[in-house]
Amino acid sequence: MEISSADYIISNTDVKKCPTGNFPEYAFIGRSNVGKSSLINMLTGRKSLAMTSSTPGKTLLINHFLINKNWYIVDLPGYGFAKRGKKAQEDLRKIIEDYILEREQMSNLFVLIDSRLEPQKIDLDFVEWLGENTIPFTIIFTKTDKLKGRELKTNTEAFLDILRGQWEELPPYFISSSEKKTGQKEILNFIENINKKLKNKDNKNS
Ligand code: GTP
Ligand code: MG
Repeated sequence: MEISSADYIISNTDVKKCPTGNFPEYAFIGRSNVGKSSLINMLTGRKSLAMTSSTPGKTLLINHFLINKNWYIVDLPGYGFAKRGKKAQEDLRKIIEDYILEREQMSNLFVLIDSRLEPQKIDLDFVEWLGENTIPFTIIFTKTDKLKGRELKTNTEAFLDILRGQWEELPPYFISSSEKKTGQKEILNFIENINKKLKNKDNKNS
């Protein structure tokens, strides 16, 4: 899929104030600093559409970007940034959870996992919470340019193995690097296919 336009639309803390209308949207979530905003810039081929930072906790709002005038990318705040303090962390958790549970336009949730690390409890807990709430999701392993040789396979398989033990079916997953543009085509194709399916469904219903 070609990205012919990518425009920042709005940021807010309240799911009820997110854009109205029924354009499908694709949200990106994951631990603070996992690379959500960088991935959004890589996918859209825009250097600074979403704000990135080496300091965790850069994205604190629900950010909507309109793509090709007919679908949205949503950059969400990261979870699990301990330094932020209890109250602030709770506020963020509420923003994230309300969005995920209430946003009907959310066509797919991408959960980003840092490929450099062994399976992290915070990610496993989050994925479990999605399961309990029957929210379908797709995994994207990030920062794969930082790994050598077999490390990538070892880390991704360790995470997937835990999921295999918990679920009957593995969710779809991709590997990515925002530095090297790994996964760009695959992830955009995946989104395009969902967009097409949704369009066909709309046409049949009208
Ligand atoms: P918050 O908004 O704070 O939750 O973080 P985020 O998940 O949006 O992460 P962000 O995209 O801001 O990236 C965090 C840091 O990781 C930045 O210093 C990025 O340059 C770096 N980074 C992100 N993706 C990659 C990648 O694919 N490869 C490498 N080497 N670094 C990356
Ligand atoms: Mg961010």
